[in-house]
Amino acid sequence: PTSFILLLCIAYLLGSVSFAVLISLLRRLPDPRSMGSGNPGASNMLRLGGRSLALATLLGDLGKGALAVWLAQRAGLDPREQGWIALAAVTGHILPIFHRLRGGKGVATAAGALLILSWPAALVASAIWLVIFAALRIASVASITACVCLLPWLAWQRPELLLPCSIMVLLILLRHRLNIGRLLTGSENHFKN
Ligand code: G3P
Repeated sequence: PTSFILLLCIAYLLGSVSFAVLISLLRRLPDPRSMGSGNPGASNMLRLGGRSLALATLLGDLGKGALAVWLAQRAGLDPREQGWIALAAVTGHILPIFHRLRGGKGVATAAGALLILSWPAALVASAIWLVIFAALRIASVASITACVCLLPWLAWQRPELLLPCSIMVLLILLRHRLNIGRLLTGSENHFKN
């Protein structure tokens, strides 16, 4: 239990490192929380800083989620406990202690964590994300669909991960409430190319 609690704290701290904010600071770009969609994540970095900075943000946010769960695996935590570690990392991204709790939506961090928790689940969710994004060019719809489809897959294949991942999906969906509002009024951001 001590190592579980310690790893929960480490995962939360890792999740709290916002690569969008750090990369913007390094490149002397405006804070992504005050421009575009206002979200410190890869999609908004694509709008504000271009492809390479978006890719760096994506890899950083994927990497911290993956690292948190990898550390948990190395420490010998069981899969159920690893699921809670993933949730802690996503919570860190959404409510980061290093950025006055003004974080992102948690999608890339969750994807990175999922990659280590269950690579087939990560593959399914990423494929859904890419297909929806390619078809509609709207990042939020891709994220919401991938998250919602993930749960029946986990219930079927990895039921022990269902509870922490359901809470994770709930948090991610709550963070998309402004996107959902924009989708309903037809004003959500599209990527043109
Ligand atoms: O992963 C974040 C995505 O779902 C939405 O981002 O910047 O379009 O609000 P954004």
